[in-house]
Amino acid sequence: MTTRTIGLVGTGVIGSGWAVRVLARGYDVVAWDPGDGAEDRLADSIERAWPAATELGLFPGADPGRVGWADSPEEVAKAADWIQESAPEDEGIKRSLLRRLDDAAPPRTVIASSSSGLLPTRLAEGLRHPERLLIGHPFNPVYLLPLVEVAAGEATSADAVAAAVEHYDDLVMHPLIVRNEIEGYLSDRLQEALWREVLHLVNDGVATTAELDDAVVYGPGLRWAAMGTNLTFHLAGGEGGMRHMLGQFGPALELPWTHMEAPELTEELIEAMATGTEAQAGGRTVAELERQRDLSLLGVMRALSTSGIGAGRLITERDARIQAAGKTAGQD
Ligand SMILES: NC(=O)c1ccc[n+]([C@@H]2O[C@H](COP(=O)([O-])OP(=O)(O)OC[C@H]3O[C@@H](n4cnc5c(N)ncnc54)[C@H](O)[C@@H]3O)[C@@H](O)[C@H]2O)c1
Repeated sequence: MTTRTIGLVGTGVIGSGWAVRVLARGYDVVAWDPGDGAEDRLADSIERAWPAATELGLFPGADPGRVGWADSPEEVAKAADWIQESAPEDEGIKRSLLRRLDDAAPPRTVIASSSSGLLPTRLAEGLRHPERLLIGHPFNPVYLLPLVEVAAGEATSADAVAAAVEHYDDLVMHPLIVRNEIEGYLSDRLQEALWREVLHLVNDGVATTAELDDAVVYGPGLRWAAMGTNLTFHLAGGEGGMRHMLGQFGPALELPWTHMEAPELTEELIEAMATGTEAQAGGRTVAELERQRDLSLLGVMRALSTSGIGAGRLITERDARIQAAGKTAGQD
Protein backbone atom coordinates (compact mmCIF):
# COMPACT_ATOMS: atom_id res chain seq x y z
CA MET A 1 0.00 0.00 0.00
CA THR A 2 1.59 3.28 -1.06
CA THR A 3 1.36 6.14 1.38
CA ARG A 4 2.17 9.81 1.13
CA THR A 5 2.86 12.70 3.46
CA ILE A 6 0.91 15.83 2.66
CA GLY A 7 2.20 19.12 4.05
CA LEU A 8 -0.42 21.66 5.16
CA VAL A 9 0.55 25.21 5.98
CA GLY A 10 -2.29 27.20 7.52
CA THR A 11 -4.88 24.99 9.25
CA GLY A 12 -7.99 27.18 9.52
CA VAL A 13 -11.28 26.28 7.84
CA ILE A 14 -9.64 25.18 4.59
CA GLY A 15 -6.36 23.73 5.87
CA SER A 16 -8.25 21.56 8.38
CA GLY A 17 -10.63 20.49 5.60
CA TRP A 18 -7.64 19.37 3.54
CA ALA A 19 -6.35 17.48 6.58
CA VAL A 20 -9.56 15.45 6.83
CA ARG A 21 -9.64 14.67 3.10
CA VAL A 22 -6.00 13.52 3.18
CA LEU A 23 -6.39 11.47 6.38
CA ALA A 24 -9.54 9.80 4.98
CA ARG A 25 -7.40 8.78 1.99
CA GLY A 26 -5.12 6.92 4.39
CA TYR A 27 -2.20 9.33 4.13
CA ASP A 28 -0.11 11.23 6.68
CA VAL A 29 -0.41 14.96 7.35
CA VAL A 30 2.37 17.22 8.53
CA ALA A 31 1.04 20.66 9.47
CA TRP A 32 2.07 24.10 10.66
CA ASP A 33 0.08 27.21 11.56
CA PRO A 34 1.41 30.15 13.61
CA GLY A 35 -1.95 30.91 15.27
CA ASP A 36 -2.28 30.55 19.07
CA GLY A 37 -3.79 27.16 19.89
CA ALA A 38 -3.76 26.15 16.22
CA GLU A 39 -2.68 22.56 16.93
CA ASP A 40 -5.62 21.99 19.30
CA ARG A 41 -8.03 23.70 16.89
CA LEU A 42 -6.90 21.39 14.09
CA ALA A 43 -7.49 18.32 16.30
CA ASP A 44 -10.99 19.63 17.16
CA SER A 45 -11.83 20.31 13.51
CA ILE A 46 -10.70 16.83 12.48
CA GLU A 47 -12.78 15.24 15.23
CA ARG A 48 -15.83 17.26 14.18
CA ALA A 49 -15.55 16.35 10.50
CA TRP A 50 -14.52 12.72 10.92
CA PRO A 51 -18.10 11.31 11.08
CA ALA A 52 -18.90 12.91 7.69
CA ALA A 53 -15.60 11.69 6.23
CA THR A 54 -16.43 8.22 7.50
CA GLU A 55 -19.84 8.34 5.85
CA LEU A 56 -18.20 9.41 2.59
CA GLY A 57 -15.87 6.41 2.86
CA LEU A 58 -12.46 5.79 4.39
CA PHE A 59 -9.53 4.23 2.55
CA PRO A 60 -7.46 1.51 4.25
CA GLY A 61 -5.10 3.10 6.78
CA ALA A 62 -7.37 6.14 7.31
CA ASP A 63 -6.70 7.40 10.81
CA PRO A 64 -7.48 10.85 12.26
CA GLY A 65 -4.37 10.54 14.41
CA ARG A 66 -1.89 10.48 11.52
CA VAL A 67 -1.05 14.18 11.97
CA GLY A 68 2.41 15.46 12.77
CA TRP A 69 2.72 19.04 14.00
CA ALA A 70 5.75 20.97 12.71
CA ASP A 71 7.54 23.91 14.33
CA SER A 72 8.02 25.84 11.09
CA PRO A 73 6.95 25.93 7.43
CA GLU A 74 10.48 24.77 6.57
CA GLU A 75 9.95 21.59 8.58
CA VAL A 76 6.74 20.91 6.64
CA ALA A 77 8.48 21.62 3.33
CA LYS A 78 11.26 19.14 4.06
CA ALA A 79 8.92 16.34 5.20
CA ALA A 80 6.14 16.58 2.62
CA ASP A 81 5.57 14.91 -0.75
CA TRP A 82 3.03 17.64 -1.58
CA ILE A 83 2.58 21.08 -0.04
CA GLN A 84 -0.84 22.75 0.23
CA GLU A 85 -0.72 26.33 1.45
CA SER A 86 -3.94 27.64 3.11
CA ALA A 87 -2.80 30.84 4.84
CA PRO A 88 -5.07 33.94 4.91
CA GLU A 89 -6.08 35.45 1.55
CA ASP A 90 -3.45 38.19 1.66
CA GLU A 91 -0.92 38.41 -1.12
CA GLY A 92 1.85 39.71 1.18
CA ILE A 93 1.41 36.94 3.75
CA LYS A 94 1.21 34.27 1.07
CA ARG A 95 4.24 35.51 -0.86
CA SER A 96 6.58 35.57 2.12
CA LEU A 97 5.32 32.15 3.26
CA LEU A 98 5.67 30.66 -0.23
CA ARG A 99 9.22 31.94 -0.42
CA ARG A 100 10.09 30.13 2.83
CA LEU A 101 8.47 26.93 1.57
CA ASP A 102 10.22 27.21 -1.80
CA ASP A 103 13.62 27.75 -0.16
CA ALA A 104 13.25 24.65 2.00
CA ALA A 105 11.40 22.14 -0.20
CA PRO A 106 13.20 19.76 -2.57
CA PRO A 107 12.87 21.22 -6.11
CA ARG A 108 10.43 18.59 -7.34
CA THR A 109 7.87 19.03 -4.56
CA VAL A 110 4.81 20.85 -5.91
CA ILE A 111 3.52 23.78 -3.87
CA ALA A 112 -0.21 24.40 -4.31
CA SER A 113 -1.95 27.46 -2.92
CA SER A 114 -5.60 27.23 -1.82
CA SER A 115 -6.08 30.90 -2.76
CA SER A 116 -9.62 31.83 -3.80
CA GLY A 117 -8.60 34.30 -6.46
CA LEU A 118 -4.98 35.55 -6.41
CA LEU A 119 -2.95 35.27 -9.59
CA PRO A 120 -0.43 32.41 -9.48
CA THR A 121 2.05 34.40 -11.59
CA ARG A 122 2.22 37.04 -8.86
CA LEU A 123 2.47 34.44 -6.07
CA ALA A 124 5.40 32.79 -7.89
CA GLU A 125 7.43 36.01 -8.29
CA GLY A 126 10.82 35.73 -6.63
CA LEU A 127 10.64 31.97 -6.03
CA ARG A 128 13.69 29.82 -6.74
CA HIS A 129 11.43 27.30 -8.45
CA PRO A 130 8.38 29.17 -9.78
CA GLU A 131 7.67 26.23 -12.09
CA ARG A 132 6.32 24.16 -9.16
CA LEU A 133 3.86 26.78 -7.87
CA LEU A 134 0.20 26.56 -8.85
CA ILE A 135 -3.27 27.14 -7.46
CA GLY A 136 -5.32 24.23 -6.11
CA HIS A 137 -8.51 26.04 -5.09
CA PRO A 138 -10.90 23.82 -3.09
CA PHE A 139 -14.41 24.38 -1.77
CA ASN A 140 -15.70 24.27 1.77
CA PRO A 141 -16.11 21.61 3.20
CA VAL A 142 -12.99 20.32 1.48
CA TYR A 143 -13.48 16.81 2.91
CA LEU A 144 -16.79 16.44 1.03
CA LEU A 145 -16.88 18.71 -2.02
CA PRO A 146 -14.85 17.27 -4.89
CA LEU A 147 -14.21 20.43 -6.94
CA VAL A 148 -10.67 21.80 -7.01
CA GLU A 149 -9.68 24.48 -9.53
CA VAL A 150 -6.14 24.05 -10.84
CA ALA A 151 -4.68 27.32 -12.14
CA ALA A 152 -1.18 27.70 -13.53
CA GLY A 153 0.89 30.87 -13.66
CA GLU A 154 3.16 31.96 -16.50
CA ALA A 155 6.09 30.03 -15.03
CA THR A 156 4.21 26.90 -13.92
CA SER A 157 5.46 23.79 -15.70
CA ALA A 158 3.22 21.33 -17.53
CA ASP A 159 4.70 18.65 -15.25
CA ALA A 160 3.43 20.46 -12.15
CA VAL A 161 -0.07 20.78 -13.64
CA ALA A 162 -0.05 17.08 -14.56
CA ALA A 163 1.09 16.23 -11.02
CA ALA A 164 -1.75 18.34 -9.62
CA VAL A 165 -4.35 16.56 -11.73
CA GLU A 166 -2.93 13.22 -10.60
CA HIS A 167 -2.73 14.25 -6.93
CA TYR A 168 -6.28 15.64 -6.71
CA ASP A 169 -7.68 12.72 -8.70
CA ASP A 170 -5.96 10.42 -6.21
CA LEU A 171 -7.85 12.27 -3.45
CA VAL A 172 -11.01 11.48 -5.47
CA MET A 173 -11.60 15.10 -6.38
CA HIS A 174 -12.59 16.75 -9.65
CA PRO A 175 -9.63 18.86 -10.82
CA LEU A 176 -10.96 21.58 -13.10
CA ILE A 177 -8.18 23.25 -15.09
CA VAL A 178 -8.55 27.02 -15.31
CA ARG A 179 -7.11 27.42 -18.81
CA ASN A 180 -6.71 31.19 -18.69
CA GLU A 181 -5.11 32.90 -15.72
CA ILE A 182 -7.70 35.26 -14.24
CA GLU A 183 -8.39 36.61 -10.75
CA GLY A 184 -11.21 34.76 -9.01
CA TYR A 185 -10.81 31.78 -11.38
CA LEU A 186 -14.16 30.31 -12.51
CA SER A 187 -16.37 29.22 -9.64
CA ASP A 188 -15.84 32.23 -7.38
CA ARG A 189 -16.61 34.56 -10.27
CA LEU A 190 -20.00 32.85 -10.52
CA GLN A 191 -20.60 32.74 -6.77
CA GLU A 192 -19.61 36.34 -6.28
CA ALA A 193 -21.87 37.55 -9.11
CA LEU A 194 -24.78 36.02 -7.19
CA TRP A 195 -23.53 37.33 -3.86
CA ARG A 196 -23.16 40.90 -5.20
CA GLU A 197 -26.81 40.74 -6.28
CA VAL A 198 -27.78 39.46 -2.82
CA LEU A 199 -25.96 42.37 -1.17
CA HIS A 200 -27.80 44.85 -3.39
CA LEU A 201 -31.21 43.31 -2.73
CA VAL A 202 -30.60 43.38 1.04
CA ASN A 203 -29.11 46.87 0.85
CA ASP A 204 -32.12 48.16 -1.09
CA GLY A 205 -34.51 46.57 1.43
CA VAL A 206 -36.04 44.41 -1.29
CA ALA A 207 -35.64 41.07 0.51
CA THR A 208 -34.10 39.52 3.61
CA THR A 209 -31.17 37.09 3.66
CA ALA A 210 -33.65 34.28 4.49
CA GLU A 211 -35.93 35.10 1.55
CA LEU A 212 -32.97 35.19 -0.83
CA ASP A 213 -31.73 31.83 0.45
CA ASP A 214 -35.25 30.40 -0.04
CA ALA A 215 -35.07 31.71 -3.61
CA VAL A 216 -32.12 29.38 -4.13
CA VAL A 217 -32.68 26.29 -2.00
CA TYR A 218 -36.25 25.46 -3.08
CA GLY A 219 -35.48 25.87 -6.76
CA PRO A 220 -32.32 26.71 -8.69
CA GLY A 221 -29.99 25.25 -6.05
CA LEU A 222 -31.48 21.79 -6.51
CA ARG A 223 -30.91 21.97 -10.27
CA TRP A 224 -27.40 23.39 -10.02
CA ALA A 225 -26.04 20.30 -8.25
CA ALA A 226 -27.13 18.16 -11.17
CA MET A 227 -26.56 20.33 -14.22
CA GLY A 228 -25.07 23.73 -13.46
CA THR A 229 -26.46 26.90 -15.03
CA ASN A 230 -26.07 26.26 -18.74
CA LEU A 231 -27.45 22.77 -19.18
CA THR A 232 -30.28 23.70 -16.79
CA PHE A 233 -31.24 26.65 -19.01
CA HIS A 234 -30.92 24.49 -22.12
CA LEU A 235 -33.76 22.40 -20.66
CA ALA A 236 -35.70 25.51 -19.62
CA GLY A 237 -35.87 26.40 -23.32
CA GLY A 238 -37.94 23.28 -24.04
CA GLU A 239 -37.35 21.58 -27.37
CA GLY A 240 -35.79 24.82 -28.67
CA GLY A 241 -33.08 24.51 -26.01
CA MET A 242 -30.59 27.27 -25.28
CA ARG A 243 -31.34 29.14 -28.54
CA HIS A 244 -35.00 29.51 -27.60
CA MET A 245 -34.04 30.41 -24.03
CA LEU A 246 -31.73 33.22 -25.18
CA GLY A 247 -34.31 34.43 -27.68
CA GLN A 248 -36.95 34.59 -24.97
CA PHE A 249 -34.95 35.92 -22.03
CA GLY A 250 -31.96 37.52 -23.75
CA PRO A 251 -33.63 40.94 -23.95
CA ALA A 252 -34.26 40.83 -20.16
CA LEU A 253 -30.51 40.44 -19.61
CA GLU A 254 -30.11 43.95 -20.98
CA LEU A 255 -32.59 45.47 -18.52
CA PRO A 256 -30.80 47.43 -15.83
CA TRP A 257 -31.93 45.25 -12.94
CA THR A 258 -28.74 43.37 -12.37
CA HIS A 259 -25.77 45.02 -10.71
CA MET A 260 -22.20 44.09 -11.59
CA GLU A 261 -20.63 46.32 -8.97
CA ALA A 262 -20.98 45.43 -5.30
CA PRO A 263 -22.73 47.99 -3.09
CA GLU A 264 -20.68 49.85 -0.50
CA LEU A 265 -20.29 47.67 2.59
CA THR A 266 -21.82 50.13 5.04
CA GLU A 267 -22.25 49.29 8.74
CA GLU A 268 -26.01 48.99 8.11
CA LEU A 269 -25.53 46.47 5.29
CA ILE A 270 -23.06 44.38 7.28
CA GLU A 271 -25.53 44.44 10.19
CA ALA A 272 -28.45 43.39 7.96
CA MET A 273 -26.45 40.50 6.48
CA ALA A 274 -25.13 39.33 9.86
CA THR A 275 -28.38 39.62 11.84
CA GLY A 276 -30.28 38.08 8.94
CA THR A 277 -28.11 34.98 8.82
CA GLU A 278 -28.00 34.73 12.63
CA ALA A 279 -31.80 34.71 12.63
CA GLN A 280 -31.74 31.98 9.97
CA ALA A 281 -29.39 29.93 12.15
CA GLY A 282 -32.15 30.08 14.78
CA GLY A 283 -29.86 29.31 17.69
CA ARG A 284 -28.07 26.43 15.98
CA THR A 285 -24.32 26.49 16.61
CA VAL A 286 -21.81 26.48 13.74
CA ALA A 287 -20.98 22.86 14.60
CA GLU A 288 -24.68 21.90 14.40
CA LEU A 289 -25.10 23.71 11.09
CA GLU A 290 -21.94 22.06 9.72
CA ARG A 291 -23.30 18.64 10.61
CA GLN A 292 -26.65 19.43 8.96
CA ARG A 293 -24.87 20.74 5.86
CA ASP A 294 -22.58 17.70 5.72
CA LEU A 295 -25.47 15.22 5.97
CA SER A 296 -27.34 17.12 3.24
CA LEU A 297 -24.30 17.13 0.96
CA LEU A 298 -23.73 13.42 1.52
CA GLY A 299 -27.38 12.72 0.73
CA VAL A 300 -27.35 14.83 -2.42
CA MET A 301 -24.13 13.26 -3.69
CA ARG A 302 -25.36 9.73 -2.94
CA ALA A 303 -28.62 10.53 -4.78
CA LEU A 304 -26.69 11.87 -7.77
CA SER A 305 -24.53 8.74 -7.83
CA THR A 306 -27.55 6.62 -8.84
CA SER A 307 -27.60 8.44 -12.19
CA GLY A 308 -23.84 9.04 -12.35
CA ILE A 309 -24.38 12.81 -12.56
CA GLY A 310 -21.94 15.52 -11.39
CA ALA A 311 -20.40 14.90 -7.97
CA GLY A 312 -22.34 11.61 -7.78
CA ARG A 313 -19.92 10.09 -10.29
CA LEU A 314 -17.11 10.52 -7.76
CA ILE A 315 -19.11 8.81 -5.01
CA THR A 316 -19.32 5.69 -7.17
CA GLU A 317 -15.65 6.05 -8.07
CA ARG A 318 -14.64 6.46 -4.43
CA ASP A 319 -16.59 3.37 -3.35
CA ALA A 320 -14.90 1.33 -6.11
CA ARG A 321 -11.43 2.59 -5.27
CA ILE A 322 -11.87 1.93 -1.54
CA GLN A 323 -13.00 -1.60 -2.31
CA ALA A 324 -10.03 -2.17 -4.64
CA ALA A 325 -7.60 -0.68 -2.11
CA GLY A 326 -9.08 -2.90 0.60
CA LYS A 327 -8.45 -5.99 -1.53
CA THR A 328 -4.86 -4.89 -2.21
CA ALA A 329 -4.28 -4.13 1.47
CA GLY A 330 -5.60 -7.62 2.30
CA GLN A 331 -2.99 -9.13 -0.01
CA ASP A 332 -0.09 -7.21 1.61
N1 LIG B 1 -13.24 29.70 3.53
C1 LIG B 1 -13.51 29.31 2.31
O1 LIG B 1 -14.67 29.01 1.96
C2 LIG B 1 -12.41 29.14 1.29
C3 LIG B 1 -12.67 28.33 0.17
C4 LIG B 1 -11.63 28.09 -0.74
C5 LIG B 1 -10.38 28.66 -0.55
N2 LIG B 1 -10.18 29.47 0.54
C6 LIG B 1 -8.84 30.02 0.69
O2 LIG B 1 -8.12 29.25 1.64
C7 LIG B 1 -7.18 30.09 2.33
C8 LIG B 1 -7.42 29.98 3.83
O3 LIG B 1 -8.73 30.45 4.10
P1 LIG B 1 -9.54 29.97 5.40
O4 LIG B 1 -10.97 30.22 5.10
O5 LIG B 1 -9.09 28.63 5.83
O6 LIG B 1 -9.04 31.05 6.47
P2 LIG B 1 -8.95 30.91 8.06
O7 LIG B 1 -8.94 32.28 8.59
O8 LIG B 1 -9.99 29.95 8.56
O9 LIG B 1 -7.52 30.20 8.28
C9 LIG B 1 -6.33 30.83 8.00
C10 LIG B 1 -5.25 30.20 8.88
O10 LIG B 1 -3.99 30.72 8.50
C11 LIG B 1 -3.22 30.90 9.67
N3 LIG B 1 -2.16 31.86 9.39
C12 LIG B 1 -2.07 33.17 9.70
N4 LIG B 1 -0.90 33.67 9.26
C13 LIG B 1 -0.23 32.64 8.66
C14 LIG B 1 1.03 32.51 8.04
N5 LIG B 1 1.86 33.55 7.91
N6 LIG B 1 1.39 31.30 7.55
C15 LIG B 1 0.56 30.23 7.67
N7 LIG B 1 -0.64 30.30 8.24
C16 LIG B 1 -1.03 31.49 8.74
C17 LIG B 1 -4.22 31.36 10.72
O11 LIG B 1 -3.71 31.12 12.04
C18 LIG B 1 -5.44 30.50 10.37
O12 LIG B 1 -5.44 29.29 11.10
C19 LIG B 1 -7.36 31.48 1.76
O13 LIG B 1 -6.44 31.68 0.72
C20 LIG B 1 -8.78 31.45 1.21
O14 LIG B 1 -8.98 32.35 0.15
C21 LIG B 1 -11.15 29.71 1.47
